[in-house]
Amino acid sequence: MSAFRSIEWINDRLRLLDQRQLPKTIAYCDYTDYRAVADAITTMVVRGAPAIGLTAAFGLAIAAHQSTATTMAAFLQDLQLAGEYLMRSRPTAVNLSWAIKHLLQYANAFAETEKVSISALKQAIVQEAQALYDADLEVCKQLSHHAQALIPQAANVIHHCNTGSLVASDYGTALGIVRVAHEQGKGIHVFLDETRPRLQGASLSAFEMKTFDIPHTVIVDGASGYVMSTRQIDACLVGCDRVAANGDVANKIGTYNLALVARAHNVPFYVACPLSTLDMSLASGKEIKIEERAAIEITEVQGQPITPDATPVFNPAFDVTPAEYISAIITEKGIVYPPYLTKLKHLMQSS
Ligand code: MRU
Repeated sequence: MSAFRSIEWINDRLRLLDQRQLPKTIAYCDYTDYRAVADAITTMVVRGAPAIGLTAAFGLAIAAHQSTATTMAAFLQDLQLAGEYLMRSRPTAVNLSWAIKHLLQYANAFAETEKVSISALKQAIVQEAQALYDADLEVCKQLSHHAQALIPQAANVIHHCNTGSLVASDYGTALGIVRVAHEQGKGIHVFLDETRPRLQGASLSAFEMKTFDIPHTVIVDGASGYVMSTRQIDACLVGCDRVAANGDVANKIGTYNLALVARAHNVPFYVACPLSTLDMSLASGKEIKIEERAAIEITEVQGQPITPDATPVFNPAFDVTPAEYISAIITEKGIVYPPYLTKLKHLMQSS
């Protein structure tokens, strides 16, 4: 296990590692109110698709504890409203709604099939949230092991954003692959895109790679073309926030640029994600809602303005990489190659 955990359920409280303060400060925030949990997701105390889903699941467990309802119907209604509230915290990562829908269905089924008290159901909801958390660890390990077939014994890879232990219960997705390669004794080195504007690569991925003693080098986002043209790069590895049925992928802004550069240099471009990141209800990436965040993320650096007053800014937090630029999608059930439409459908049906 990692030395740090981004999410922990302790004594009926949710504890989150405040990722905004890394790598300088390791500070935790405790939550006993589901609205504050939603705020923690919105303000990026916790971030990364799997972690957002797990946090929302524990947020719903908190909402269950907070409910003062005395009838089962009123209790389920409280849960439903809390679920809808949590779902509005961030729009792009589908893991958020996936986890909430899962827990709401679980609670409704439990209430219907068993003669249970509200307090027993509250406990069951906490246990189910914890079960999702535990399952996530296995999922991350499985996909990281499957991916080793794509990683040579000595490898140089480029990675965007952060996708390591901090975005999951442990290991993570794309950086989980890097970590398992390192654990297996492969000579892996990872170039980390700094990831403007929130700098997840420079602050979080570099923090994780340093913690695990994995060789790494931080580059600015615009350097990937130069790095690919001057170094031997074996693969690009990224995570994702939502995959549409046709294999289009939404991920941190800049992912699409990286995919285009990779194509120009014949470098394979791999996307790693749990099945809970697949959204088969959307035909293509055009239907994925892309979050736009505040201008201040771009106009200020560490509290200092870097643009003239009132400079117009466009700040999409994610972009969509068309499936044609993606060499493979790596999941806990194995590696999926194009054409994605039929293969992803088959994968989901058989899971
Ligand atoms: O805005 P963030 O930091 O939540 O965005 C995170 C990413 O885009 C990650 O690459 C994605 O969630 C995959 S995490 C396995």
